[in-house]
Amino acid sequence: MSEAKQNASDARRLVVVSNRLGNIRDMSQAGGLAVGVADALAQRGGLWLGASDEYYDSAAGDEPLIRVERLGKIEMAALALPREEYSLYYNGYANSTLWPLFHYRLDLVKHQREFLQAYRQINARFAKALAGLLSGNNDLIWIHDYHLIPLAAELRRLGVGNRIGFFLHISFPPPDLFVATPDHEELIDDLLQYDVVGLQTETDLANFRRSVETTNSISFDIKGATEAKGRAVLSRSFPIGIDVDSFARMANDAAEDVQIDSMRRQILGLKQIIGVDRLDYSKGLPGRMQAFARLLERHPEHERAATYLQIASPTREEVSAYAEIRSQLEATAGSINGKYADLAWTPIRYIHRAVPRSRLAGLLRASQVGLVAPLRDGMNLVAKEYIAAQDPGDPGVLVLSRFAGAAEELAESLIVNPYAVDEVADAIAKALKMPLEERTARHGALLKRISRNDAAEWRRSFLATLAGEG
Ligand code: ADP
Ligand code: G6P
Repeated sequence: MSEAKQNASDARRLVVVSNRLGNIRDMSQAGGLAVGVADALAQRGGLWLGASDEYYDSAAGDEPLIRVERLGKIEMAALALPREEYSLYYNGYANSTLWPLFHYRLDLVKHQREFLQAYRQINARFAKALAGLLSGNNDLIWIHDYHLIPLAAELRRLGVGNRIGFFLHISFPPPDLFVATPDHEELIDDLLQYDVVGLQTETDLANFRRSVETTNSISFDIKGATEAKGRAVLSRSFPIGIDVDSFARMANDAAEDVQIDSMRRQILGLKQIIGVDRLDYSKGLPGRMQAFARLLERHPEHERAATYLQIASPTREEVSAYAEIRSQLEATAGSINGKYADLAWTPIRYIHRAVPRSRLAGLLRASQVGLVAPLRDGMNLVAKEYIAAQDPGDPGVLVLSRFAGAAEELAESLIVNPYAVDEVADAIAKALKMPLEERTARHGALLKRISRNDAAEWRRSFLATLAGEG
């Protein structure tokens, strides 16, 4: 892209919409989306609209309740929403219908008419709020994730003709699964109201395009463009990345107690396998613990010589499938520890809470194996964070599920099928024994790739495409 073109797109105000608003004041706790978006906003200025964490209970009329806060060049707009309706939208349609569907879990999908109604009403509320905040039709609008699929359609209904882009942070299912939802035609019609639809990987992109073809009998050309109801729509993949340098710096400045814990293990000759995730059924957490137990059975030399640390933060606890996965995981950890632990060695350490990012970075660096084995994942930023956190002179090894979006880019990790427990156990054993030369070669290649495809490149390429320059 030429310098002049870059400047042309940068001159347009950026308007970002996501369900959850990032905390611009304290980005130390933020993950990929929040950091990527906040950087873009900090550079060029703009507006970020999201749901407020304050709700109202009584009918407060139809006018949107928005609290706008200005922080330098950025305006943060928090939209207050009705509590009951928000719950049907967030716990209901977003996380009990779309999340399981898009993660290939038809068995967990719940269909309720009230979920869909609330989903559409909340999106209409977002649209009304946003329409009142736009400064003209030159604003570039960038909408994020599955909570807000109908937002462009609602905005178009209000007469908004701006360029609107959508990025889906999670995977897109193949058409045979997608059409299992009775609402699939509506969802596709909604997606075709965007100018640009961005997916994480080539697999998701192909699934999306085939789902459009199956549903609407229209196809995409070789550049990913199509025309639907007289509108041009472009679909592309934009794999999301992380800010590699800042994560590496955090990992290098690990907290004192993390360093002491790591020194203690070094002295005892103990190696650490680490997993870091939200406690979500898509992450395959019980399977990972079973794979660790199989490691101890198939490779008994690792008894008392390896520990598995799983940090799993609480998430979406009002949704029943999440309560179930929590008890299942606790039972699995308990039974493995019951079988193997002795006074001097706890095989699995399981922490059910969020850990500050700087601490997390230090823990990833202090672990010889990063175990990232989701059953399905849009990208999985932890895989990239694990690579960024390593000491390049003595790096650990990433064991990565083939069903994480990150596997498309991170071929030099040990790629595994998370459903094949013995295969995962053997890959962990291989990682624990891998010679330094092979570890540094694999890590060097991975680090180069995540540095090239970082958060800045993700947002630059998406916004250039949205501005019609990509
Ligand atoms: P998802 O978006 O499905 O949660 P990702 O791996 O793509 O999965 O992103 C998760 C982000 O949240 C990462 O930046 C990761 O470091 C962070 N994270 C996950 N679990 C924890 C935890 N227990 N404590 C702190 N941060 C966490
Ligand atoms: C995934 C989704 C995000 C979501 C995040 C945390 O990364 O793609 O949209 O914000 O999980 O989930 P939560 O429900 O807590 O926002």
